[in-house]
Amino acid sequence: MSATTLEPPATAPGAVIRTDLAAEILRLKRERNAVILAHNYQIGAIQDVADYVGDSLGLSYAAQKADADVIVFCGVHFMAETAKIVNPTKKVVLPDLNAGCSLSDSCPPDKLAAYLQAHADKNYYVVAYINCSAGVKALSDVICTSGNAVKIVERIPADRNILFVPDQNLGAWVTEKTGRKMDYWQGNCYLHMEFTRKSIERIKLEFPDAPVVAHPECTLAVRLLADEVCSTEKMVHWCKAQSAPDIIVVTEAGMLHRLEREVPGKRFIPGPTDHCACADCRFMKMNTMEKLRDCLRDLQPELTMPEDLRARAEVPLLRMLEWSR
Ligand code: 13P
Ligand code: SF4
Repeated sequence: MSATTLEPPATAPGAVIRTDLAAEILRLKRERNAVILAHNYQIGAIQDVADYVGDSLGLSYAAQKADADVIVFCGVHFMAETAKIVNPTKKVVLPDLNAGCSLSDSCPPDKLAAYLQAHADKNYYVVAYINCSAGVKALSDVICTSGNAVKIVERIPADRNILFVPDQNLGAWVTEKTGRKMDYWQGNCYLHMEFTRKSIERIKLEFPDAPVVAHPECTLAVRLLADEVCSTEKMVHWCKAQSAPDIIVVTEAGMLHRLEREVPGKRFIPGPTDHCACADCRFMKMNTMEKLRDCLRDLQPELTMPEDLRARAEVPLLRMLEWSR
């Protein structure tokens, strides 16, 4: 296949339809007085029409201060839920209600409640990574994201036993950084588990001068191969500060679009898995431009939750937002 057949000309039907769709989305956004918030893992076209693109922490602050009538959340379910918890008077809609998260699913609220009851003698201080349901947040003392987990854990009194849920990899990384011993829920992100020592060693051999940045949801074996481990937002700052022209990025592939947009002049190499050249989160990638257009047009699917649950989940979330200012 020649290079020209890979890239359709600007006038190709596909290109025109994409442009029309983006224009329609922007028109509907104005008509609905909506704000579009998108996670760094969304497809490039969605990132390009969003008012704010960022990590879970930045998105939580953006949702809290949104003053539009409608928040359209392009990410996964727990992120839209978080927006509703911190800004309950807004209508929160999302392109696909089924866009879940394997990490969130690994810790059902009833299992956590039963665990806490069975270990009541430990009087746990529960730190929940934001990748969890409102039900789990409601059972927690404080929430954290990958961007502030170290800072949050450092605030917890030394005499308290900490239970860190649901990501054992992020929890172990926080222990490495803080020296704080914790008990970990045995959950993980299916996608970040697919990066292996072998797959990252292979790409390092191919690009021996490229530094490696990895997300803390990766396993220890992968984190040990990285020059930096951080949240997706911090990856943008870290990459800007590197002099190397090539950087290997070990996280979900949508991140490359954000990096290419904000850190021009560098080549970003997606971290491969053992069976794939780059890694797409099957939940994040359930959102499409068509579904985004439809949800702006119909103002559904809408994210709703019982007020008592929202109010209980809000307490640890507001504590996090306060502690990480
Ligand atoms: P960030 O908050 O670092 O963007 O991580 C979110 C996430 O889902 C990682 O898989
Ligand atoms: Fe959840 Fe993993 Fe997808 Fe992030 S990449 S949304 S942790 S399944």
